[in-house]
Amino acid sequence: MTIVSREPIMYDIRVYDDQNSLMQAAAAYATECYNAAISDHGYFAVALSGGSTPRALFELLAVPENAQHIGWSKVHVFWGDERTVPPDHPDSNYRMAKEALLDFVALPASNVHRISGELEPAQAAAEYEQTLRSFFAKRAGKTRFDLILLGMGDDGHTASLFPDTEALNETERLVVANHVPKLDTWRITLTAPIINAAAHVAFLVAGAGKAAVLKRVLKGPRQPHKLPSQLIQPVDGELVWLLDKAAASELDR
Ligand code: 6PG
Repeated sequence: MTIVSREPIMYDIRVYDDQNSLMQAAAAYATECYNAAISDHGYFAVALSGGSTPRALFELLAVPENAQHIGWSKVHVFWGDERTVPPDHPDSNYRMAKEALLDFVALPASNVHRISGELEPAQAAAEYEQTLRSFFAKRAGKTRFDLILLGMGDDGHTASLFPDTEALNETERLVVANHVPKLDTWRITLTAPIINAAAHVAFLVAGAGKAAVLKRVLKGPRQPHKLPSQLIQPVDGELVWLLDKAAASELDR
């Protein structure tokens, strides 16, 4: 596997006092990305992150005074990764987004592009790759999300790009099935190349539990096999780290 060593890229680190102000800022950032996309090409293609952190953001986006600023018929929702479970499973990233956001906004069902976690992993990945290629072929021609939201685990993973897993080596495919030994499970995940092709990539990281790994990712030596979040370096896009003070508490030490 060759990691092309790159000059450190420019990224924004934005730190907010607490989780609530972090989510307000994240909602505002997503809305800015939406406005830019609509002005530029008339639709907004966004990949949502999973896990627990983004639920509060999705709930905030669903609040009428926020939702009213979005033309939901122009929004296409995708996922950065999915667990290999059915869509109604408690662990499903789709289910979490549906419960927190999708059920409350006027998003056409045809604009919801979920990963079929219920399928055999390789089939789910191949199907999603085709979904992405077909979607973008009809539009910009280039496979470029307007916004990809990412979380980060306390082991430095993002999406389902976990340390020392095969998916980290992928340089061609947009979506892969990734076996995660530490969780003894398969995940479906976007790969670094498609994430790095996005116009905007926003990490949303909250809580003291992420402070130590965040310092290693942002300030430590480059070791993306161990810290896959370091793989995320948009080629021609903006990277922002949206943090609360607790998560950022070790950055200046
Ligand atoms: C997933 C996510 C994953 C998540 C991190 C952080 O499917 O779990 O996509 O990458 O963002 O594990 O999860 P928390 O927000 O729950 O800490």
